[in-house]
Amino acid sequence: MNGEVSLLRPAVSNPATRPELSDTLRASVMARRTQVTELLKKAVSEFGNEITFANSMGAEDMVLTDIILREQLPIEIFSLDTGRLPVETYDLMAEVEKTYHTRLKIFFPRSDTVENYVQSNGINAFYESIDLRKACCHMRKVEPLGRALKGKKAWVTGMRAQQSATRADLPLREFDESHGLEKFNPLSDWTEQETWAYIRMHEVPYNKLHDQFYPSIGCAPCTRAVAVGEDVRAGRWWWEDPASKECGLHVKK
Ligand code: ADX
Ligand code: SF4
Repeated sequence: MNGEVSLLRPAVSNPATRPELSDTLRASVMARRTQVTELLKKAVSEFGNEITFANSMGAEDMVLTDIILREQLPIEIFSLDTGRLPVETYDLMAEVEKTYHTRLKIFFPRSDTVENYVQSNGINAFYESIDLRKACCHMRKVEPLGRALKGKKAWVTGMRAQQSATRADLPLREFDESHGLEKFNPLSDWTEQETWAYIRMHEVPYNKLHDQFYPSIGCAPCTRAVAVGEDVRAGRWWWEDPASKECGLHVKK
């Protein structure tokens, strides 16, 4: 399975990350920014400072990071470091800390669980079956997410409805039964073009892999570049059926 991020480096820069900033697009992005800020402020008024934002450092999450930090909203920001992220994601984490003068809160998987899994199944066992892939996502993302959400009343994600068939009916807010708290998806109705227009207009730091045709970035061994016109999540777990391509962070009960 030859999908390591470092092996695939297209020379041409992805035009989707540089949309033409027409007046109409700028105006719609500013209106959307206001809507997101209002929704987040409402979330704060309902749930106080017991809200946390799950930041994968993807393009959408960088928009939310920028809004939360510039508006100084009392929303905690955390990331899950699976131990298998691309080097470009770590570079971005460092850039975010420098740009916004902040320290990221990072959750790691339990070392004993990872050691047992690797000892029993092998270092890249996630390619061997869907069960082993899901078990890897569970120990590296889902279990740490549970710790990150513990004691919180609400969480925020950067998901968009247009990202995949599994997210088509994504609401702006919902009760997350599997974790037992409110979940906000403030960018649910944003387009990819609006996301990138925001990043360019506000000079937000972003993962350099996006320029190399990686619209959706997860762990290095499970993410690859997509072809022009391909689905934005086609490069995630590309060997699996699109209907099963979620890592378990956002499953419904
Ligand atoms: S995934 O579930 O398939 O990995 P995706 O990468 O599209 O999802 O991210 C969707 C949302 O899940 C992100 O906007 C973010 O809120 C959350 N998320 C995903 N990966 C992480 C991570 N490593 N750390 C924190 N949040 C994450
Ligand atoms: Fe493991 Fe791949 Fe899931 Fe990362 S995306 S946790 S490496 S299976």
